[in-house]
Amino acid sequence: MITEVVLPGQVEPEGLQLRTRPLPEPGPGQALVAVEASGVSFAEQQMRRGKYYDQPPFPFVPGYDLVGTVVSTGPGVDPALRGRRFAALTKIGGWASHALVGAGDLVEVPEGVDPAEAETVVVNGITAWQMLHRVAKVRPGMTVLVHGANGGVGTTLVQLARHAGVKVIGTASPRHHDAVRALGATPLDYRDPDLPGRVRALAPGGVGAVFDHIGGEGIVDSYRLLARGGTLVSYGTAATRDIPGSSRAPVLKLLARLALWNLLPNGRGAHFYNLWAGRRRLAAYQARIRADLGQVLALLASGEFTAVVAARIPLSDAAEAMRLAESGTVTGKVVLVADQSARPDGEEEGVR
Ligand SMILES: NC(=O)c1ccc[n+]([C@@H]2O[C@H](COP(=O)([O-])OP(=O)(O)OC[C@H]3O[C@@H](n4cnc5c(N)ncnc54)[C@H](OP(=O)(O)O)[C@@H]3O)[C@@H](O)[C@H]2O)c1
Repeated sequence: MITEVVLPGQVEPEGLQLRTRPLPEPGPGQALVAVEASGVSFAEQQMRRGKYYDQPPFPFVPGYDLVGTVVSTGPGVDPALRGRRFAALTKIGGWASHALVGAGDLVEVPEGVDPAEAETVVVNGITAWQMLHRVAKVRPGMTVLVHGANGGVGTTLVQLARHAGVKVIGTASPRHHDAVRALGATPLDYRDPDLPGRVRALAPGGVGAVFDHIGGEGIVDSYRLLARGGTLVSYGTAATRDIPGSSRAPVLKLLARLALWNLLPNGRGAHFYNLWAGRRRLAAYQARIRADLGQVLALLASGEFTAVVAARIPLSDAAEAMRLAESGTVTGKVVLVADQSARPDGEEEGVR
């Protein structure tokens, strides 16, 4: 049997349901993965409010990414994948004991890396790596501004930027400043009314890049803080999560604004990063994911990158995991781990 967490509609975390059904058979090109770890991302906070840009229809099984072991393979898939540990981006479906994943979406996890630690760098590692190296193209010696430096993507951005020789100013609530400092960034309070002045005091000529997941009116400050030749990487609209209305309007407004800024002849660039962009050319997209996530997993395996696991919570306590992720008290990633009795060979389930 498979155990999965279902989001039945717009509910509080307590409204999440647990359901069981027979294990599915992998179809052509698919592998069945026994999930060892899945993450709680900001996307699920938006999805449970019906506010995710690409909102799936209710009911559905959330779970943006996962790490697990292949237990069976469908036609056309190398049976040698069985018994090996992989990571995958799923967008939905990861909060389950097992998940069907396209074999082309599997990225091998290096031997000896803990599944929950590997999990922290799947969506976050790909997002942070691609924004730093494919969009902003950071260089050693540069100074960048990372908003939400305590969050899942934020902690990953800070560490990968530091690894690339980049100085980081990281915004977060004051309760997270010690943690942000420990990652190697200079912390500032994002609620400080004079945040732009404080950034300018640290980087008088402006910053080389700003990574902004907040959107709203604050994006104007993010853009103004850029040095000539600098890049604004906008990648979310967290500011509008709790504002009722269309899930798409805030993003479309943001895109229009960025497009307009790009027309200005001031040497600055403004981009929206979308993790799923380019997936229509599937093979090339999957090759990029393998290359970029592979780099981050290698840094994790070598100890040059430290996974920031905020908490490991059993799958059947997904509601608690969600409440914690939304509490504003967290540094790093909340990870759902397989229930104690769930076994990677799929023979026994921890159904509650
Ligand atoms: N475009 C893409 O392809 C892509 C891919 C992945 C993620 N994302 C975006 O990346 C962001 C971070 O995701 P995550 O999974 O890392 O989330 P997370 O771990 O929950 O961290 C969220 C961060 O945002 C801060 N935050 C929450 N609400 C905020 C608000 N209203 N204004 C300002 N800051 C706020 C939190 O600060 P506190 O802890 O102090 O509340 C925390 O630092 C999200 O906006 C998500 O949509 C985008």
